[in-house]
Amino acid sequence: MNDRGCTLWFTGLSGAGKSTLAQLVAEELRKMGKKVEILDGDEVRQNLSKGLGFSKEDRDTNVKRIGYVAKLLARNGIIAITAAISPYREVRDYVRQQNGDFVEVFVKCPLEVCIERDVKGLYKKALAGEIKQFTGISDTYEEPLNPEIVVNTAEETKEESVQKILNGLKDLNYI
Ligand code: ADX
Repeated sequence: MNDRGCTLWFTGLSGAGKSTLAQLVAEELRKMGKKVEILDGDEVRQNLSKGLGFSKEDRDTNVKRIGYVAKLLARNGIIAITAAISPYREVRDYVRQQNGDFVEVFVKCPLEVCIERDVKGLYKKALAGEIKQFTGISDTYEEPLNPEIVVNTAEETKEESVQKILNGLKDLNYI
C-alpha cells in the first residue's frame, strides 16, 4: 500500500461496462484504504460539460475536462477513475502526456454484445437513425493500441475484470 495517486482511465463503447467496473473497482480500492473519486461521462455531462454534444470537437473538450480534473485529484494522492467513451486515441494520449501516472483500461466488448445489452435503449434509437453520431453505429471508436490493462466484459465475469484491474494497479505499484 502506498499513497500514490493516478488517473485510471476507462475507455470503451457505450454499454461495454465502464461505469459498472469503475464503481466496483472504486469499492475495492476504498476497502484497501485508498482515496478514490469517479468521474463518469454521463454525470460530467450534466455539470462540468453541460451543453456539450457529441461532435468530435465536443467529445475532445469533454475528455480534456475530465482529464484535467483527474490530474488535480491524482496529484493529491487520489485514484481518479474516469469512465467516458473517449473514442479518440489522440486526445486520450494527450491526457496521458498531461497527467503522467496514467493507467489506461480498455473495456473491450464486441459491438453486437453492447447492442444486445442496450442498457439505456440508445442503440435501438441510433440504429433507427434517431440519434446521430452514435459511437459504434454512426461514429468512430478508436481502440487503444497499448493500454496498460484490457478487460473483456463479454468473456469475463465482473469479478474477473475487477481482479485484472486491481492486479494491473498492483503491478504498476499504485496499490
Ligand atoms: S465521450 O465520447 O464524450 O467520451 P461520454 O462518455 O461523455 O462520451 O458520454 C457517452 C454517453 O452519452 C453514452 O453512454 C450515452 O448514454 C450518451 N450518448 C448520447 N448520445 C450519444 C452519442 N451520439 N454517442 C455516444 N454516446 C451518446
